[in-house]
Amino acid sequence: MSSRIYLDNNATTCVDPLVVEAMKPYFDEEYGNASSIHSFGQKARAALEEARGQVALFLGAGSDEIVFTSGGTESDNLALCGVARRLRHKGNQIIISAIEHPAVLMAFDGMQAEGFRVTRLPVDHQGRVGLADVEDALSDETILISAMMANNETGTVQPIREIALLAHGKGVLVHTDAVQAAGKVPIDVEQLGVDLLSISGHKFHGPKGVGALYVRQGVRLQPIMLGGGHERGMRAGTENVSGAVGLGMACQVARQELSKAAERMSRLRDRLEEGILNSIPDTVVNGCRQSRTPQTSNISFLGAEGESLLMALDLQGIAVSTGAACHAGTVSASHVLTAMHLSRETLQGAIRFSLSRFTTEEEIERTLEVLPGVVERVRQVAGRY
Ligand SMILES: Cc1ncc(COP(=O)(O)O)c(C=O)c1O
Repeated sequence: MSSRIYLDNNATTCVDPLVVEAMKPYFDEEYGNASSIHSFGQKARAALEEARGQVALFLGAGSDEIVFTSGGTESDNLALCGVARRLRHKGNQIIISAIEHPAVLMAFDGMQAEGFRVTRLPVDHQGRVGLADVEDALSDETILISAMMANNETGTVQPIREIALLAHGKGVLVHTDAVQAAGKVPIDVEQLGVDLLSISGHKFHGPKGVGALYVRQGVRLQPIMLGGGHERGMRAGTENVSGAVGLGMACQVARQELSKAAERMSRLRDRLEEGILNSIPDTVVNGCRQSRTPQTSNISFLGAEGESLLMALDLQGIAVSTGAACHAGTVSASHVLTAMHLSRETLQGAIRFSLSRFTTEEEIERTLEVLPGVVERVRQVAGRY
């Protein structure tokens, strides 16, 4: 067991050794440009298309429905800006949930600046979008709705299939950010009924800087990256062949390991949660415990500051997070927990523990040994106990 314990896997994950092995040849031997006609190019093209097939199989999609991108942020931006700009003639309302990742929230802010009307759906105190709110928000002007499949801070899983049914009843396209769902819960674009879906390699043991957007056949996008006609005209730029190969392998392993990995992560997550709730007073789990990704636990330690807990745990070699990693460095309250209307004390004391399929039982037990003392000290400093 490494002396450091990493429980921040919703920020990023270690790269699976199988992924590293699969990528290696595309740095030194097979470095061709996938758009070149010669044999170097053909080898790279073949690898890219094999990877596209692996991603498609993982999502239950066709290979010609997968666009490689630089990650979750770009996939979200391409889906939202690409559809909104393309369908401007049809209507000017777009809908999102209030707890989306900044990659979605900021893209929508951009669309608002371009004249679109943006409707933000509220969530309940467990972080779930209400179907009645979706129905109320949909109008003849709506062209797109985006709701994340699983939240990065709480793990709460949204009723995407039901949202898609309502939206399609009105002829509205549906995008879901599945960045935190991939490798944790089954994803099948047909079953979900979505038109666009984002994933990111580094969240499930693939490399950083590569992701994919599923674009249902027939859905047209205006590209946001202009240049050559790569990725069937949807995303210009020389393809990141090694990255795509890594993403493809991550998808293949995730597909094969999914049920075993999910069972293991939820068992360890539940052990961690139960241990914390039983040994540390005034603790509360945030989010929807019935409908949640198996790797995530968001817990508030009332009377303690989340940032102080994070730093104290880091000194003990245990890495956790107070919210989205993208927010790290800014100490403003989480917009996700705020939208759930939790008390100020609950917001301030929130810590996110996120596991991976590589997390061990020993790491969870060690965390449970260390945590009570750390929380007590931080609470004492805060003058609460
Ligand atoms: C839900 C969600 N969407 C999008 C992203 C952005 O993905 P990437 O880091 O690949 O740009 C993240 C990363 O934290 C995320 O958690």
